[in-house]
Amino acid sequence: MYSTMFAQENPMIRIETGHTALVLKVGKNQMLYQTYLGTKLNNSADYESVSKENTKSFVVNDGNPLIDLRHLTYPTFGTTNLFEPAIRITHNDGNPSLELAYISHSTIKTDENTTETIIQLKDPQYPVSVAIHYKAFYNEDVIETWTEIRHQEKEPVVLYNYASSVLHADADQYWLTQFFSDWAEEARMEDSKLTRGTKVIDSKLGVRTDMFAVPAFYLSLNSKSAENTGDLIAGTIAWSGNFKLAFDIDNNNELRISAGINPYASEYTLAPDKIFTTPAFIYTFSNQGKGQASRNLHAWARKYGVKDGEQPRLTLLNNWETTFFNFDEKKLTGMFTDAKTLGVDLFLLDDGWFGNKYPRSGSTSGLGDWQATQSKLPNGLGFLAKQASLTGVKFGIWIEPEMVNAKSELYEKHPDWVLSLPNRPQHTYRTQFVLDLCNPDVQDFVFKVVDDLMQTGSISFFKWDCNRMMTNAYSVYLKNKQSHLYIEYTRGLYKVLDRIKSKYPKLPMMLCAGGGGRADYAFLNYFTEFWASDNTDPYDRIFIQWGFSQFFPAVSVCNHVTSWGNQSIKFRTDVAMMGKLGFDINVEELKENELKYCQQAVTNYKRLSPVIWLGDLYRLISPYDESRAVLMYVNQEKTKSVLLSYTLHPMYDPNFSTVKLQGLDAQKQYKIEEINLMPDGKPVFEESGKTWSGDFLMKIGLKVSSPKKETSVVLEISAVE
Ligand code: DGJ
Repeated sequence: MYSTMFAQENPMIRIETGHTALVLKVGKNQMLYQTYLGTKLNNSADYESVSKENTKSFVVNDGNPLIDLRHLTYPTFGTTNLFEPAIRITHNDGNPSLELAYISHSTIKTDENTTETIIQLKDPQYPVSVAIHYKAFYNEDVIETWTEIRHQEKEPVVLYNYASSVLHADADQYWLTQFFSDWAEEARMEDSKLTRGTKVIDSKLGVRTDMFAVPAFYLSLNSKSAENTGDLIAGTIAWSGNFKLAFDIDNNNELRISAGINPYASEYTLAPDKIFTTPAFIYTFSNQGKGQASRNLHAWARKYGVKDGEQPRLTLLNNWETTFFNFDEKKLTGMFTDAKTLGVDLFLLDDGWFGNKYPRSGSTSGLGDWQATQSKLPNGLGFLAKQASLTGVKFGIWIEPEMVNAKSELYEKHPDWVLSLPNRPQHTYRTQFVLDLCNPDVQDFVFKVVDDLMQTGSISFFKWDCNRMMTNAYSVYLKNKQSHLYIEYTRGLYKVLDRIKSKYPKLPMMLCAGGGGRADYAFLNYFTEFWASDNTDPYDRIFIQWGFSQFFPAVSVCNHVTSWGNQSIKFRTDVAMMGKLGFDINVEELKENELKYCQQAVTNYKRLSPVIWLGDLYRLISPYDESRAVLMYVNQEKTKSVLLSYTLHPMYDPNFSTVKLQGLDAQKQYKIEEINLMPDGKPVFEESGKTWSGDFLMKIGLKVSSPKKETSVVLEISAVE
């Protein structure tokens, strides 16, 4: 049921979840201000006091012109604002200014858990309006916000800035946690205290945009972010193109956080009556540090943010690291048997299966020609899929449909389909070009890549890769609107993914970008999971997985056991079990006891995966703090838990301290058993098999870590009657 309010005297608008409130208020000047963001107050009348204390100036400008500029919900450019605008626009008459006055707001309860509030703002002089949307998820304490910008001027207007959201915070100190990345070192966490001025985390890469930074942050108030204490905002932008997160501390030590599409080189010409919709900024406020923030986001993501987020995933064997481009039908069918022997659900055929005029025998040819190479696979994909099925495993396949090699039939036929700058040398990266997804014909082609493959029958899984960024980018299709390229490419890609999702709604798909160069909640609407990194050395991988675990639930993060490091098979597998388990190893080369271990680990994983995928994550010891990482997942009923302890490179005899467990039921008794032991291995956890109360485990704790470098302990914790 809608409730709509029109410009009454200074209305207050509350966007509330179970534990959080965002409060907005209209000033006497009809501008909209944020008066509160934080832990929900018991008495809603108290928000008036907060707003009086904090924001009395919004009601009466007491002589200081700067006061009316602070805490604006969607600050504009060109009149009185002196700070970074959320929106900047030039009107048909050349006037570069915008003012946005409150017009009305409405709130609708979409279901038991979700409320949507829409606030209409409009320029008093020009026919330009902005609708701010807030979707509040009650149980998960998550808010999604975005805007719709439209106008009725005679000709198009030019948009220069178009943030999804601006949030304000007032604290003595502001601490930022960011996630810097590169190939093979994704999602590394770095904390810094913000100083006056603006700190920007953004991407200008056009495609594979997260390669240098994950579009996510923690902003902690007054102290550095901690796992279980402190007020912080965890935010992320659901946009797969260039993004921008800016943190601006002004002369008054007040912080503005703006998030959205990166307006860099992207002035946008908006036609009358067309709507420019900004992507959703997704955030949660936690007064119990990063741990609670992650659990909020994970719970939200499983339900609303990740394709089939509450459904089971397929464990798999991938051939990439074993064969690279060098395989044939015989080798692959042999690997189907290996997958079956391991006990996984699916065989995933990676890069190198396609191209006939220019077979894909390396990264220099064939990309774009999505027909099986006859010399390698004479009986085609249908045969392979059938053989896999006869062996008892499903069949999945790798594609990189947004890209093309110069040595391909596709490029010979459509040289104008690639992004390429006139009068400049063409620039390749991994000897490939980016296809122009702004062009609807290219969109049709990319859709057909998946659609045609689905017609070959029995493809149960896709890995969708993307191995380069945009350089020398120019779209023949966009003609004189080149500044739309970054945005239209991303929208074009979403159009393709929308078509795939609507035709194949249950098809599981893994997102990959030369490792973890793509991870955001716009993509995850279409993908069941993403590949975190090509770096599968378990030592490094612990940090990478730790980083992604802050924002993405385990069910969406793919980890494979490979031979990248020289560590034991147990350590490699135990580390991969932190998320969605897969293998990318030569099974034939495993020793007998290693194979036995893997088979047992897969069985254990299948039993425990509902807890790992759907349970709550408690990060107990960070690898950034000690030379070990300890974490546990607990199911919703608090009857089953898995604890994973990974020892990194401690000094001799580290004497690791006791670890207090979290998330259990204090009243329950729990039996703890060490699992995932090598066939001839002894438990590290000497008390394996004993029972403790949840109260004891959470107040006193246990010694759970192995003292030895690059070893691991997996504990299965089960409530007993
Ligand atoms: C990069 C991916 O991250 C790898 O897993 C593999 O699929 C290669 N591309 C194939 O070219």
